[in-house]
Amino acid sequence: MKLGRVRNIVVVAGAGISTGSGIPDFRTPGTGLYANLAKYDIPYPEAIFNIDYFSDNPHPFFSLAKELYPGHHRPNYVHYFIRMLHQKGLLLRMYTQNIDGLEKLCGIPDDKLVEAHGSFATAACHLCYTPYPAEEAKQAIMKGNVPICTFCAGAVKPNVVFFGEDLPEKYFQHAEDFPKADLLMIMGTSLKIEPFASLVNTVKSTVPRLLLNRDPVGPFERRPLRRADYMELGDLSDSVRKLAEILGWHTEIQDLMNSHENGLRSYTDPSNSSGTAASKQEFQPPQNSNKCLWSATKNPNILLLRCV
Ligand code: OAD
Repeated sequence: MKLGRVRNIVVVAGAGISTGSGIPDFRTPGTGLYANLAKYDIPYPEAIFNIDYFSDNPHPFFSLAKELYPGHHRPNYVHYFIRMLHQKGLLLRMYTQNIDGLEKLCGIPDDKLVEAHGSFATAACHLCYTPYPAEEAKQAIMKGNVPICTFCAGAVKPNVVFFGEDLPEKYFQHAEDFPKADLLMIMGTSLKIEPFASLVNTVKSTVPRLLLNRDPVGPFERRPLRRADYMELGDLSDSVRKLAEILGWHTEIQDLMNSHENGLRSYTDPSNSSGTAASKQEFQPPQNSNKCLWSATKNPNILLLRCV
């Protein structure tokens, strides 16, 4: 990267990039989401994201969704590192399995991002796929109600991809992206879920693959490693920071993170992903206010700010 030989980085990410933001991953024993679902009384952990199980009983997912809906967490240093790859003109695409919306929130533009397992930003009927207003679905779910499709009366769900469902159209862009990659960065994923996991095997064999994760996963579990494979094991924030320091980007990332986070303040409406962050960044809150809260209005160009 320092020699300018890398120009098309593909990032493949999973829940481990968001643990630094306080969101548990799925499979870490003890702390992972799948180890903490006892209260939902489901037959096996993954059932909560299984479309046939949802069809039978949507309530466990909807209870969990109240906690999963984006809005309570902020992007961390790892997200801003990836945004910096974009700002430096090096990011070909980021493929994320995450549904927390933190990639968008940190400013990675839509055209650089593939949310392979969907997001909460839109909603539709799980039976006939008729779109449903995402905000209305969220409000119903938050009140403990099941949003109902106006066309077929099926349960509506946010467009997060469940086991048994197709991946979004955009995911298939991988067929063009991965052969073009000149560096693959794999971050914070167990590479356990197909078809996503196999994407990492679709870069040319000479292309360096860098794994930043707590433990070896996928092809990095085999010995010997492929010649162009490298891994840095440990906490992702530490590894990414180390890499940023090697590249001489650390201060720039911190400045970007501070200015973006201050600009966004307590902005809590991730369903509005229309890129209003730029104008919010220009806002200076009143000097004597210690908490400001953004909220959306019916006019997508107007955000309301309350400061106390
Ligand atoms: P997992 O929970 O399976 O894997 C997260 C990986 O990140 C593990 O290898 C952790 O060790 C590692 N990790 C966590 N925190 C870390 C940290 N701070 N530093 C370094 N490594 C860390 O999550 P995913 O691979 O994202 O699918 O899971 C893939 C899919 O399985 C999810 O998208 C979801 C789930 O079922 C659906 O819901 C369809």
